[in-house]
Amino acid sequence: KQLMSEVEAFTANSKEEVEAFRIKYSGKKGLVNDIIADFRDVPNEMKRDYGRAMNMLKSAALEKVNTLKEALEDANDISSSSINDTSRPGEAIEIGARHPISIVKNQIIDIFSRIGFNVSEGPEIEDDWHNFTALNLPEYHPARDMQDTFFIQTDPDVLLRTHTSSVQVRYMENNKPPIRTISPGRVYRNEAISGRSHCFFHQVEGLYIDKDVSFADLKQTLQYFTTEMFGKSKIRLRPSYFPFTEPSAEVDVYWGLETETDYKMTKGTGWLEIMGCGMVDPNVLENCGIDSKEYSGFAFGMGIDRIALLLHQISDIRMLSENDIRFLEQFKSAL
Ligand code: PHE
Repeated sequence: KQLMSEVEAFTANSKEEVEAFRIKYSGKKGLVNDIIADFRDVPNEMKRDYGRAMNMLKSAALEKVNTLKEALEDANDISSSSINDTSRPGEAIEIGARHPISIVKNQIIDIFSRIGFNVSEGPEIEDDWHNFTALNLPEYHPARDMQDTFFIQTDPDVLLRTHTSSVQVRYMENNKPPIRTISPGRVYRNEAISGRSHCFFHQVEGLYIDKDVSFADLKQTLQYFTTEMFGKSKIRLRPSYFPFTEPSAEVDVYWGLETETDYKMTKGTGWLEIMGCGMVDPNVLENCGIDSKEYSGFAFGMGIDRIALLLHQISDIRMLSENDIRFLEQFKSAL
């Protein structure tokens, strides 16, 4: 009994201690064998109990040796592996970077959502109505040439959208004014690919429809946007033409002429063109089921890619779609 409790209570911190324990109990000249040797002299009536106790001690000693050995080996595994040193700095987890297009897109969404614009999306494969006809660009209208279009060969009614104005049409068809929405997304134009232009790029277009919306509201909204986006507040509106707005304008931001790059970017004028805009043509409102006598509105559209090139000093638009990890990695510290 006493030996049993000794065996049960035994613990060891090293292999040597376990080995000493094994020799003491289970070794050839160990206590277990001594007890077995004594068995002969045990009186017959006690042999049963003695035998049982003897066997229990024998297996308890063996089991103890095995469990202690295993425990020590486990501990050894841990101490020889790297996780034991808790003072070591952790290994950095590789995380990706946001794409510059997404960074700029999110900034634009954020700026407009602060003044009550929501985000709307639509399909990249469009029909003629939503991309052109509803926008006051009927078939054979020469202004269609402004946007070289990819058509699906078998069906002239199916095309890749050339602007996200198509989303604005869908939004007006499905929502009643007041409307304040921006539509970010990818658009396609059949243009030669170069460092400055691509056959696909990204836009954010905005639409605001309510009672008594004026050109002054448009200008103030753009003023707010350019100040938030570029930290530059001087803008100018140059008369322009879009079939879906009247009057229409091109928006320039004053970039200044402080560096060589400023000079190149602004063609020596200091003014940089960033978007098109105008008051939504009443025909467009009517096409989309909105009463043009009751409501008016403005719209604007800008290219995300060009703004990304500008803000992140990227020299070639093709880098935005080549997925070169050395390029993408550089945006890890950006938002
Ligand atoms: N849809 C025009 C384009 O892609 C941009 C624009 C939008 C112009 C809204 C005016 C008003 O070029």
